[in-house]
Amino acid sequence: MSDKLVFICKTSDLEPGTVKRVEIGDSGVAVYNIEGTYYVTDDRCTHGLSSLSEGELMGDEIECSMHFGAFHVPTGKPTLAPCSIALKTYRVETKGEDVFAEMD
Ligand code: FES
Repeated sequence: MSDKLVFICKTSDLEPGTVKRVEIGDSGVAVYNIEGTYYVTDDRCTHGLSSLSEGELMGDEIECSMHFGAFHVPTGKPTLAPCSIALKTYRVETKGEDVFAEMD
């Protein structure tokens, strides 16, 4: 296992189709369960200060609750204005019931 892998949550913490914020150090990431696959991105919207985990997960896109821009969760690519800067994504590894992300 890589030294950079950080425990994020238990698989049972997140129902399919949901997202939640997890505090890592002094910042937060958003962890998503999309049809049983887990993804981790920065929680802060690249357009402003909003927390994406408070937005709405629609399929594999997260809609920001502040100005309703959106991102493709698996790639972090912006899919709807006013979001134009890609969201940072993290490689995820699931080991048994534990979800880890490779952090910088
Ligand atoms: S802060 Fe997210 S769309 Fe503006």
